[in-house]
Amino acid sequence: MNPDKSKLDCIFGRRSVRLYTDRGVDEQSIQTLLQAGMAAPSARACDPWRFLVLTQRNLIDSLSELLPYGKMLKVAPLAFVVCGDITKANSQSLSYMLQDCAAATENILIAAHTLGLGSVWLGVHPNEDRVNGIRKLFKLPEEIIPVNAISIGYPAEVKEPRTRYNAEYIHCNGW
Ligand SMILES: Cc1cc2nc3c(=O)[nH]c(=O)nc-3n(C[C@H](O)[C@H](O)[C@H](O)COP(=O)(O)O)c2cc1C
Repeated sequence: MNPDKSKLDCIFGRRSVRLYTDRGVDEQSIQTLLQAGMAAPSARACDPWRFLVLTQRNLIDSLSELLPYGKMLKVAPLAFVVCGDITKANSQSLSYMLQDCAAATENILIAAHTLGLGSVWLGVHPNEDRVNGIRKLFKLPEEIIPVNAISIGYPAEVKEPRTRYNAEYIHCNGW
């Protein structure tokens, strides 16, 4: 393998993991994931991201009911709902808020993989049913917009590292 690529298991080895063992995630690992999320780039360092951490079985199950492609949450010991505070985003811009939350989310996925955890990004925004369902379930304040959820646990499936590199997607020095 290309030597640079072999150093980047955190990137190429991160895959969506949807099956988990029954091992719980300890508080220190949860803290590390949150530290990683909040180490992400953010427009003007406004840090509009907010994190709802779910460790209670009944709450994770209720989240699962709201997400049609989130059934793996039923066996996940941990879930995050990554939210943004629109009033804190750069220029109160939805686009900046979503970009910042996406950067934080990817950092959490990479950190999870590096800690030996498995995780998967679950789409919420801009699906209105999912956004409104989460707003209601967790009684989110008006300014807080749920952006995505992350299902996390120790992996019960093995996935090979990969890239979806496609040379056709690259335009060098002009389109
Ligand atoms: C915005 C977004 C929404 C996603 N929503 C879901 C989802 O609802 N359920 C799911 O199982 N995976 C979801 N995924 C994960 C993708 O299916 C996955 O990243 C993609 O198939 C590539 O596979 P990989 O993560 O293993 O590289 C989502 C990913 C993104 C970026």
